[in-house]
Amino acid sequence: MNRLFTGSFLAMCFVALALCAPANAHAATDICSTSAVVTSTNAPNGPTILPNIFDPHGPAARMIHDLSWLVLGICGGLFVVVEGMIFYGVIFYRRKKNDKNVADPRQVYGSNPVEIAWTIIPLLIVFVLTLTTVRTIRAIELTEAPEGALQVVVIGHQWWWEFRYIDPSIPGGEVVVANELHVPINRPVWLRLESADVIHSWWVPALAGKMDVIPNHTNHTWFTAETEGLYLGQCAEYCVNQHAGMLLRVIASKPVDFDAWLQTQAAPAVNDMTVAMGRDIFQEYACSNCHTVKGVSDGQFAPDLTHLMSRQTIASGVAPLDPTTLRAWIENPQALKPGCNMPSLQLDTQELNAVTAYLLTLR
Ligand code: CUA
Repeated sequence: MNRLFTGSFLAMCFVALALCAPANAHAATDICSTSAVVTSTNAPNGPTILPNIFDPHGPAARMIHDLSWLVLGICGGLFVVVEGMIFYGVIFYRRKKNDKNVADPRQVYGSNPVEIAWTIIPLLIVFVLTLTTVRTIRAIELTEAPEGALQVVVIGHQWWWEFRYIDPSIPGGEVVVANELHVPINRPVWLRLESADVIHSWWVPALAGKMDVIPNHTNHTWFTAETEGLYLGQCAEYCVNQHAGMLLRVIASKPVDFDAWLQTQAAPAVNDMTVAMGRDIFQEYACSNCHTVKGVSDGQFAPDLTHLMSRQTIASGVAPLDPTTLRAWIENPQALKPGCNMPSLQLDTQELNAVTAYLLTLR
């Protein structure tokens, strides 16, 4: 029976590998699943599209999806044939109760037809899998931005994402946001991936495969979102404490809505004098060392907060962004996201309320 178990185990490993491999076709990885999904209180147009390689919404994801089914089909077929023969042998050729004669069965040596068959068939299978995989990788791994692509720099940080839209037509030439990537539908998006610290991995399964985000090395990847919606993703390379809390959100909208969003983001921060106290505290305390609010501070270590309240989530998608969560986050970030790099500044109640009120005006 040992062989039966070994055979089953190997076959199951093979199928599991086949399931994982196509999604990772062009990047190293360490996980095969994604963590908890956060739903928004302020959802964009269109559905929420879960991280699922079997639900593609763009050309890159679709090529990976098609390859996955081919590999799964071939490997599943092999699994059924091999397991079927093992079970057939075990059930029909086991020693019966009244079997007295336990001599070895007839031994077959050097059968040319059998040897040819079990050489040619696996060769053909490997050949088909190799060719289709290479063709898919070549189609997906572009070395230059597709024509007319929106170009965005993605910077992975422990444990959040920074997105820089660099475009001379934007007032100020650049828009910097965090954790929620807005893109227009039906236009290629070309991402330049960089890391500020350790290796992360960009992965929005419904749009494209994974791509590693490596310190001191620039990677590129691309996708085209075909339908409006919120696409969920996840850092896919273990990057210590809050790896699972490094969620990704891509919001795909009509080009006109995207342009409007970009204009809003390019505008200066709201300067509301009724929350001047909170702004002063923000500037005087350590907040301003890490966070940028255009015209107020220029910290680089943490998310840009110039238009914080235009986002749906806080702490890289870990919780919905609302006044209660925001206040609790400022009071003690470690409670919501243990291990994160934002400290509690031990503000008293009045200071906490003032800073929260100030941030709530940053629309
Ligand atoms: Cu970043 Cu895992």
